Amino acid sequence: MNFNFDQTLDHRYDHSYRWAQPEGRDDIIGMGTADMDYECASAIRDAVEHVARENTYNYRMKTDLYYENLIRFYKDWFNTEIRKEWLFNIPGTLAAIRMLFGAFSHAGDYIITQSPYFDVFHMMITESGRRMLLNPMKLVNGRYELDFEDFEEKIRKYHPSIFLLINPQNPTGRVFTTEELNRLVAICAENQVLIISDEVHGFVTFDGHNHIPILALSEKAREISFLVVSFSKGYNLMSLPHALTMCANPILQARWLQYAFPFDFQYATNSFALAAVTAATSREGQYWLTAVNQYLKTNRDLLCDRLENSGLPIHPVKPEGSFVLWADCREMDTDLDHIDSIFMDQAGIALNNGLDHGPDGRGFIRINFALTRKNLEIAADRIDRISIS
Ligand SMILES: Cc1ncc(COP(=O)(O)O)c(C=O)c1O
Repeated sequence: MNFNFDQTLDHRYDHSYRWAQPEGRDDIIGMGTADMDYECASAIRDAVEHVARENTYNYRMKTDLYYENLIRFYKDWFNTEIRKEWLFNIPGTLAAIRMLFGAFSHAGDYIITQSPYFDVFHMMITESGRRMLLNPMKLVNGRYELDFEDFEEKIRKYHPSIFLLINPQNPTGRVFTTEELNRLVAICAENQVLIISDEVHGFVTFDGHNHIPILALSEKAREISFLVVSFSKGYNLMSLPHALTMCANPILQARWLQYAFPFDFQYATNSFALAAVTAATSREGQYWLTAVNQYLKTNRDLLCDRLENSGLPIHPVKPEGSFVLWADCREMDTDLDHIDSIFMDQAGIALNNGLDHGPDGRGFIRINFALTRKNLEIAADRIDRISIS
């Protein structure tokens, strides 16, 4: 099957959030927000077209095929058994996580997560009256490592009710190993900490760094965890509302459903989203996912190589998963608090300032490489021309 990831819409003019052009400019390359520039799988287009042709948006049940494909996808792609009764739909993963905070913690509670973190989580935790507890990761020889001692010490001292695990981790691109996950789970189980595992980035991984869903890990992990996922990152379905929570512990699941039902999201994952996800999780959809993983791997290697050889002291942290690259620019002789400005001002590239990802992100950038190869090369050429004197 052939897929053409080199072809793209001109996203400057299609209301793309990432490609939005500042007043008076039309030359900015969008490399911030984590979505892709690629056209979706044709199976998704066909499924959505079918819904549009019917042109009837009555209340609908989820089809058997939706569940069959989902369950088979998890088996094929992640070698993981999931069951229909573990699943619940919420329009978005962030809403699901915020609601899980509501169901399983109280105002004033601590929620622990690794740092640097995805910027939105800070707002979600603090604005819901919870307190964010950071477990900074350590950058060792260009790769982030978990600090288990700090994790355990903070859990024993502050008794957080929830551990928000992001795996693969955004922004660092780490894909946690079985051994790492087992250690995290053991500490949480021993200290009665619920795990919310956000796995939205798990569909794109490189070099044999396989993503391990928390529910595949162990009986202990299944007892204390919620998995939260959407197909948005893997299949570029960001503007179709569809997220899933999965919980294998019937007691936790009952408490969660009791909390979530009154929000009445029954039809919020609408007919288009359901059709798209049913197609994404089909065998045909999986071929597309395999192909996009290959394309992204070449993009990742190209960008790492070009940054390393740009003549600037930029050290990319090669991501093991996802399509955002975290790069260390701390040696650049510039205003590190506004590190993104130099890329915007001198290269016309809009990317994310690491500082948005917490204090441990100061002097870093996050750069999305899910662009066409041609646009990625243009961006790399422009970075080559940056001068700091
Ligand atoms: C770690 C993480 N979780 C959740 C989300 C939101 O995902 P969705 O739009 O699929 O709900 C993002 C988006 O960037 C993310 O990086």
